[in-house]
Amino acid sequence: MLILGIESSCDDCSLAIVEDGRRIVAHTVASQVELHRPYDGVVPELASRAHTELILPTYRETLKRAGLEPAALDGVAVTSRPGLSGSLVVGVSFAKALAYGLDIPLIGIDHILAHLYAPQLAEPIEYPFLGVLVSGGHTLICKVQDFDDIEVLGTTIDDACGEAFDKVAKHLGLGYPGGVVIDRLARLGNAEAFRFPVPSLHKGDHRYDVSYSGLKTAVVNQLDQFHTPGFEKSHENIAAAFEKAAVDMLVSRVLRAAKDTGLSCIVAGGGVAANTYFRSRLAEAPRGRHKPAPGAGVSEYTVVFPPLELCTDNGAMVAGIGYQHIIRGDRSGLDLEVSSRVPRFRHAYP
Ligand code: KG4
Ligand code: ZN
Repeated sequence: MLILGIESSCDDCSLAIVEDGRRIVAHTVASQVELHRPYDGVVPELASRAHTELILPTYRETLKRAGLEPAALDGVAVTSRPGLSGSLVVGVSFAKALAYGLDIPLIGIDHILAHLYAPQLAEPIEYPFLGVLVSGGHTLICKVQDFDDIEVLGTTIDDACGEAFDKVAKHLGLGYPGGVVIDRLARLGNAEAFRFPVPSLHKGDHRYDVSYSGLKTAVVNQLDQFHTPGFEKSHENIAAAFEKAAVDMLVSRVLRAAKDTGLSCIVAGGGVAANTYFRSRLAEAPRGRHKPAPGAGVSEYTVVFPPLELCTDNGAMVAGIGYQHIIRGDRSGLDLEVSSRVPRFRHAYP
């Protein structure tokens, strides 16, 4: 069964054709980074206009790469929530027209669940696993029970993790996109140069939560206060110290959740999962009470990082999870609506 996946929730216009929910037949991403670069961030109005221009050529290119005619498609899956409304509308309208014209099933997809499905396109992963979704819009540590069933253990109580990277980069004038720039600079810097405050380990209902607004303020406004004498106040050193503080906080919560839930397979996703330090820190997770998993290196946990193109926004994850819905008989009507809101997932803690 061949499903077309359409992703247009933010600034990437991405379409993919996936066979039976696993095999990527063709995948195309039209990035808008250059369009938004002068503004150091995504401008919603520009993003939706660009999607309108990009979606048809991206669709044609995806079919061409797959060597397929539209009639070969068995269904259309499209991100319908959460995201920028104007951008979502472009993808959803396009998907409705295709489904109607080709007389094939249509299914609206939740972007967060799609990110958590993405690793299944690289290698089959058994449920349940511990999902860590860290992007510009979301920070979630959750027990992933099935493709459409997650239990949220922890989240951010203020800024999303990627958002903190982007804001720090913007305030320091380091460039755009912030996460990538900080990652590159940090590799040249010394994290000891600053000792930024991180919230003490949360307790009770918040024990798996993170918080980035205090850290961001410290980096942007109070550099002097946390400077270690003898070290240069260079951008490289600031980036390294910020990145270490942000990632260490996240990894401590992830490992705590893994230990408490007994889930030994940790799967990371979202744009920040591309971060060099995050990847090495999690892969070297300290010894827990689990037996070493084969191929897990020094870690007691199996840590799965999907390939980069499946971590960031992509149509393949939408097509993949769309297949699972469609074979179960789920359908959306031509009245499918978009929503900018994050749905209310089941929370382990109130
Ligand atoms: O998943 P994604 O492409 O889009 C959203 O759904 O948000 O994630 C984009 C986020 C941005 O905040 C970006 O700065 C961050 O991921 N990011 C990174 C890196 N690459 C992208 N953050 C840290 N290190 C990176 N290498
Ligand atoms: Zn995303």
